[in-house]
Amino acid sequence: MRHTVITKLRVALPEAQVCLVIVAAASETAVPHSVLFVCLGNICRSPLAEGIFRTLVDESGQGDLFTIDSAGTGAWHIGNPPDPRSIDIAAKHGIDLSAQRARQVVSADFTRFDTILAMDAANLAALGSEESSRTAHIRLLLNDPPKDVPDPYFGGPDGFEHVYRLVRSGCEKFLDTLDRPEHV
Ligand code: 4NP
Repeated sequence: MRHTVITKLRVALPEAQVCLVIVAAASETAVPHSVLFVCLGNICRSPLAEGIFRTLVDESGQGDLFTIDSAGTGAWHIGNPPDPRSIDIAAKHGIDLSAQRARQVVSADFTRFDTILAMDAANLAALGSEESSRTAHIRLLLNDPPKDVPDPYFGGPDGFEHVYRLVRSGCEKFLDTLDRPEHV
């Protein structure tokens, strides 16, 4: 457990309602972590992953500990906002992607980020091999078992709901692995 857990318990007593606040203080030192999500265009999947993961860490009270970004292996959409269908599906789930702008992966990312999470095997391969100068741990977002987040760009809106669910599940599992003591 890396963050303080506050549990409120309402107990009904005859004379009044008493609110007990139980605080379980974190026993371990919180460790900052930086994460880069990578897809092809950085307009559909990885912006969703960035927004979902930021929401999850904020909700868990760990927002200050994380650096979160996304990028594409391709250059076509540099400077563009996310695809409107990604913005819409995120908004439907209470997440605002509208301020994001696409960028391409740069070599500095391989040392700047602790973890780089690729959306599919093709983009994982495009990131290249782990040279000794690279410090980032690079893997698929969905890695247990290994599975692609499919590219929704040429499909319809249903594909974006499917992508949202896969990415959310992957982000939840990844955050869970970071929260396990053996990870640190
Ligand atoms: P993304 O989707 O990799 O999830 O951002 C794509 C966006 C654009 C293109 C392909 C995939 N494109 O070919 O322009």
